[in-house]
Amino acid sequence: MAKKDRINFSKIGAIAAATGSAVGLGNIWRFPYLLGESGGGAFLLVYILCVIFLGLPVMISEFSIGRMAQANAAGSFRTLAPKGKWWLVGLMGVICSFIILGFYVVVSGWTLEYIAQSIGNKFSHVSPAQLNQSFTNFSTDTFRPIGWMILFTAFTCAIVLAGVKDGIEKSTKFMMPLLFLIIIILGIRSITLPNGTEGLKFLFKTDFGKINSEVVLSAMGQAFFSLSLGMGCMITYGSYMNKHNNLSSTALQVTILDTLVAILASIAIFPAVFSFGIDPAQGPELVFITLPHIFSQMQGSAIWSTLFFILLALASLTSTISLLEVIVAYMNEELHISRAKAAIGSSVGVIILGVMASFSLGIWKEFTIFGLGFFDLFDALTSKVLMPVGGIFISLFVGWKIDKQKIYKELSSNGKYKIPFLNVFLLITRYLAPLAILLILLNQFGLTKWLGF
Ligand code: PFF
Repeated sequence: MAKKDRINFSKIGAIAAATGSAVGLGNIWRFPYLLGESGGGAFLLVYILCVIFLGLPVMISEFSIGRMAQANAAGSFRTLAPKGKWWLVGLMGVICSFIILGFYVVVSGWTLEYIAQSIGNKFSHVSPAQLNQSFTNFSTDTFRPIGWMILFTAFTCAIVLAGVKDGIEKSTKFMMPLLFLIIIILGIRSITLPNGTEGLKFLFKTDFGKINSEVVLSAMGQAFFSLSLGMGCMITYGSYMNKHNNLSSTALQVTILDTLVAILASIAIFPAVFSFGIDPAQGPELVFITLPHIFSQMQGSAIWSTLFFILLALASLTSTISLLEVIVAYMNEELHISRAKAAIGSSVGVIILGVMASFSLGIWKEFTIFGLGFFDLFDALTSKVLMPVGGIFISLFVGWKIDKQKIYKELSSNGKYKIPFLNVFLLITRYLAPLAILLILLNQFGLTKWLGF
């Protein structure tokens, strides 16, 4: 339930923690391969429009809900709308966090294996076919990925256990600048490779002919995942923000930084892809197979690949702690379970889901539900169903359920800041965002084609 003496992030801490949540595998692993598959600059342009017109308003909405209510995801809805069933939206977010963690920690564990392999200089003088085989052998193995996954979950749990200020704020304030430094170094190395500018052309040249409904809808889905929206994560972090913080400018800064990292990751990857004559439309294995291949041909390969996988691990860690915090804050405040018990108990649960997800790529390959193994099922269920549904309800809640005056007071910190965009913001949360997200949702099930879009 709402607490009067809630812990507050500092101004920089709020930006570091929320950017840490947003920047993750979504930016460095998923964004570049989606961009590669969807034709470069055209995807980038549509993505940026989705971030500005949908992502930013929904993030502002989540921050406001959390800070207004001073509570966890479910408790916030219960506090602001005690009579209705709105708290179920928050509960859905808590469940969604749990399921995302179930597959996210598996991929995060892979980053640790790849750091170890990079340090051991395992990628030099290895053919692409061998890299492919070694990735398949590793990811379908029964025990090795589980060991790394448990280790990664333990790191996440330790930070969350240390608390909001001493764990989350302190660690993200340290990790985020490091992450920016690494990605800038990698970007400079990549652009200066022979023929590297071809990759930049691919990234920034916009061919409007490539924009179609598929591209728009995939960019919109990616914007939600990348900005950690639709499942109460930014509500929980918003609840730790200081009453004097300017919420809209914090959201703007987080959004810009998240987009910048996605672009920087692409700048680190595509010039290298072009420089070594590789097809940019590689799909999900871009980071775990194609990049090691590229590193293997670069001078000082062990250094570059170690730096890259450290970057990926750090980015994942600042995201997994935000996901675990959603669950821990809920269990602590709603179910009155101590923070320590909540963090350890939910981590054990995450490990069980992680084992299921990891086994589904190997020994449980034959076992599927709706044609999907656990790994793909957890991914599809969260990013294709639960997050968009959550996003629709969060927008509707701010647009229709909360009094306009209350929103104004929250966003302006009681009149301290000017909010000239209030009406546009409400227009988006009332109509544009719910309708656009509904479209993503329908598209996932092929219904938009059926409706003639
Ligand atoms: N935004 C993260 C990424 O881009 O990898 C993923 C994520 C983190 C989604 C936290 C949702 C969340 F609550």
